[in-house]
Amino acid sequence: KRLVVLVSGSGTNLQALLDAIGEAGAEAYGARIVAVGADRDGIEGLARAERAGLPTFVRKVKDYATRQEWDVALAEAVAAHEPDLVVSAGFMKILGKEFLARFGGRTVNTHPALLPSFPGTHGVRDALAYGARVTGCTVHFVDDGVDTGPIIAQGVVEIRDEDDESALHERIKEVERRLLVEVVGRLARNGYRIEGRKVVIQ
Ligand code: GRF
Repeated sequence: KRLVVLVSGSGTNLQALLDAIGEAGAEAYGARIVAVGADRDGIEGLARAERAGLPTFVRKVKDYATRQEWDVALAEAVAAHEPDLVVSAGFMKILGKEFLARFGGRTVNTHPALLPSFPGTHGVRDALAYGARVTGCTVHFVDDGVDTGPIIAQGVVEIRDEDDESALHERIKEVERRLLVEVVGRLARNGYRIEGRKVVIQ
């Protein structure tokens, strides 16, 4: 299976996928990354892709007259690599209906909170501020909402009294990276069905 990964930041989730595929071999893992896309330049996620010898592309919202034109341009850039699965790993833009018309049902996202709690850009900060005792991460299919698509897997992380946002986020990311690698591999190897809010992996 062919994966395109979308990033906006440090790309440690991307790196976890690269390392897992490198270790297992693409055949055994069931997929390989064919390209990495971003919404901005100069991020470590793109540097990681370049170090791995992967094609990269950047599509910035501000380069397009409308958000919809950006959405179409991003979808076209992704489509050029003919992915079976798109993985949004820390990609910080909402994918619009043009993108989802082409890649809905085969785009997964990872979110650093236990959805439906604490969706959006500050899931880690919001859980901490709320005084939650546990939080975690969620790998889900992307639908037309914000972090609202069918949930594939979740991992739980205890919140400690001494936690600040970055310490907690780092601990979440340790679980998140393992969960993403495991889920993407299973989706790629076994195939899956989405039945309403349920995801069935064969
Ligand atoms: C991840 O925790 C992701 O869930 C969130 O931002 C972080 C991205 O980390 N949206 P990285 O870029 O994969 O290191």
